[in-house]
Amino acid sequence: MIDLLKGEMENPDRHHVTRASGLRGYYANEPELERLIQTRHDPVHYEVFEHKVPAEAGHVMFGISKLQPGLIGQECFFTKGHYHTILATGETYLCLAGQGLMLMRTPEGDFACEEFVPGRLVYVPPCWGHRSVNTGSAPLVTLFQYQGDAGHNYGNIVDEGFPRRVYLRGGKIVLD
Ligand code: PA5
Ligand code: NI
Repeated sequence: MIDLLKGEMENPDRHHVTRASGLRGYYANEPELERLIQTRHDPVHYEVFEHKVPAEAGHVMFGISKLQPGLIGQECFFTKGHYHTILATGETYLCLAGQGLMLMRTPEGDFACEEFVPGRLVYVPPCWGHRSVNTGSAPLVTLFQYQGDAGHNYGNIVDEGFPRRVYLRGGKIVLD
């Protein structure tokens, strides 16, 4: 069961909580991230709720991602982003609540971006790294599904980031 009002899975097998301090090294404005960590006691940045399935090909891993709204300076809150360990595995994300963007990149540096609005399903093709961005003022809640043994690879993203960042400037969402 998914509680659509809370944007959470009921009785998940796994509940991963990433706090603001987990994003050190990712945002453009590091001092602003530190200020958030110190002044708001390292608040929850995003949560992932998962149902346990075997991490094997043929199975489908699924769960809920809940990303809080907010800004680091002018930059919209985002998830770290990752490639799959088995690179050529895709993923679907169905937006259940909130609004945002899915940033995608290939190891070669190609870039793509898709909008999240409730009811819109974003398809992440095989080999594309992906990062969710919350551009709204409420949690961005998505239902994701991917091949059971795909795995997560954060290595390259930490070093290289994504080709574009998402900012709120003068009341408008800007990719820069
Ligand atoms: O598997 C996925 O793509 C999602 O469950 C993400 O892991 C989730 O949105 C959190 O993002 P990240 O793993 O990049 O920190
Ligand atoms: Ni993924």
